[in-house]
Amino acid sequence: MEKLIIEGGKPLYGEITISGAKNAALPCIAATLLAPGEHVLKNVPNLRDTRTILSLLEELGATWRREGATLFIDCSDIVYSEVSYDLVKTMRASVLVLGPLLARLGRAKVSLPGGCAIGERPINFHINGFERFGVDCRLEQGYVEAFIDGRLKGNTVYFDQPSVTATENLLMASVMASGTTTLKNAAREPEIGNLIDMLVNMGAEIEGKGTDSITVHGVSKLHAAETKIIPDRIETGTYLIAVGAAGGEAVIKNCNPLHLPALIEKLKESGLALTTEDSSISIAAQTKKGHELKSVDIKTMPYPGYPTDLQAQFMVLMTLSNSICVIKETIFENRFMHVAELRRMGATIKTEGNSAVVSGNGRDALSGARVMATDLRASSSLVIAGIAATGRTEISRIYHLERGYENLVAKLSNLGARVWKENE
Ligand code: EPU
Repeated sequence: MEKLIIEGGKPLYGEITISGAKNAALPCIAATLLAPGEHVLKNVPNLRDTRTILSLLEELGATWRREGATLFIDCSDIVYSEVSYDLVKTMRASVLVLGPLLARLGRAKVSLPGGCAIGERPINFHINGFERFGVDCRLEQGYVEAFIDGRLKGNTVYFDQPSVTATENLLMASVMASGTTTLKNAAREPEIGNLIDMLVNMGAEIEGKGTDSITVHGVSKLHAAETKIIPDRIETGTYLIAVGAAGGEAVIKNCNPLHLPALIEKLKESGLALTTEDSSISIAAQTKKGHELKSVDIKTMPYPGYPTDLQAQFMVLMTLSNSICVIKETIFENRFMHVAELRRMGATIKTEGNSAVVSGNGRDALSGARVMATDLRASSSLVIAGIAATGRTEISRIYHLERGYENLVAKLSNLGARVWKENE
């Protein structure tokens, strides 16, 4: 196993290019199951998670090849086979094949994901939705077995809470259903807009992109098409926060500033200078005396609120601020695993329920330590902490990072960070 070594305390300067969004690529790759022919997906990041979903598709009979950031996927010969626990336990997003398999084959068997490091994360919204479309869903021996004789039947589905992958799964299930489907209180994340664009390119009829009420008029057939994956807004946010924490100046290129409304405002509130253009963001972070970071509260919310996937990273920034703030996590019940690790690096953070009170101790608050990564975004927060800290930080279990950050070491090194991998 590899660990990440960081010699921190050095400001970051330069340019960084953002990759395609993991959480848009995963549903779009799953959506290729809906139609035969060769699908073309551009700007797909080469990550452990995208490789995992491609091997899942291979097990279902798909063939694929990669040329640079472009994937060519052929789903002409899809066969019914179960999606095993071994796959689902390494990546929960594997459940995204349920919707397209039901639409294409009328049946699917996928292992039920268990809890994970950040919370229980049930899939009841997905199952309830399929049942509203007339699908018979049974839970047996840890698997969801779903079956329908003939086409799915369009219906109205109301979500008790906006859910990203449930909205995506039900969209993919409904595009070839008979009649009309309306998804109410649907999630509005930009990744869902990307999936809608792809489905429309394939011949689907969908209204309400970007809103919480999506209407699908079912069509009998879809065809393969070409779609570009949007830039990764969480990767963009992670590097913005890294520069804010380490100090320095950088231009983040190939991103979409419109997808980060809450983060950009919060970073400006904390005193960082940001300017946005169509597809880039420039950030300048002073570390000299008299330029302290201000403490700013955040509360995670469904899009366009502050994203839970950038909560841990922002917390690191706040440990370096000049006062006290409250960080409230409302999406997942156990997403403070990074707190104990950050305390080992000198941070002063108290948690109570879903709130963390961070007492900023100024720019020199953190010092390097040996820490452990627990999930993807917690891991990236430790990388930011290591870069901002004085001395050496060693992060173990970095396989989490490889799930979601393409070329992390190279990108940070380009900005002048002293970071490398070593064997444990
Ligand atoms: N929920 C239910 N029942 C369901 C589905 C969701 O109760 O059937 C609850 C969840 O437990 C949670 C809330 O609804 O409290 C929202 O969860 P959501 O379903 O939106 O999360 P997700 O679709 O499983 C995606 C991202 C996550 C991201 C969340 C929230 C993908 C592949 N994953 O997960 O990304 O944190 O939305 O924005 O899109 C990551 O990339 O590190 C990551 C965890």
